[in-house]
Amino acid sequence: MSEAVRPLSARLSSPGSAPPPAHTGGAMAVAASARFELDPAMRAAWEEAVARYPKRRAAVMELLHTVQDRLGFVPREAVAAIAGFLEIPDVAVFEVLTFYPMYRATPGGRHAVRVCHNIACDLMGARGLLRALRARFGVRPGETGGEGAFHLEAVECLAACGGAPVVDVDGEYHEGMTPEGLCEAVGRLLDGEAR
Ligand code: FES
Repeated sequence: MSEAVRPLSARLSSPGSAPPPAHTGGAMAVAASARFELDPAMRAAWEEAVARYPKRRAAVMELLHTVQDRLGFVPREAVAAIAGFLEIPDVAVFEVLTFYPMYRATPGGRHAVRVCHNIACDLMGARGLLRALRARFGVRPGETGGEGAFHLEAVECLAACGGAPVVDVDGEYHEGMTPEGLCEAVGRLLDGEAR
């Protein structure tokens, strides 16, 4: 079966009134020591985002994306800044950050590889995908491989069960993934790093 690739942004929909965030996909520029600073550019982006929603707090996912797009993850300082900006408790932001698998609360690799291992994907071969990555790159879920090039995660349902097994590479969904296809995709990430 050939794999199908669809951008994550085409699939996302948040609860309530928030539309899918626009800031998904692309390589993650991660700096492990990155600290969050609400600079004028970020503040302007947040103001713009908030203006699109009927309620201020409904912009929480989009604001999380702006931070993650910049840092590759969402540090605690950013959680507090978003909460203050939206006038909601820190925990309300943290709940969203930790609920959705596309957000990272800690720094990882420069690229993110997320293999769904929930029921449909498990039945369709997710374990074989993880085995292949371990055999080829020596990486298990939760680890970073390729000298920091990519971080591997086994995640819960990516809401694309009809295309199982599904892998999210830097925000792009790859459906009907095969062990060979996944190793090739990760190999391409490493090739890109080497250039
Ligand atoms: S079980 Fe994998 S996408 Fe739903």
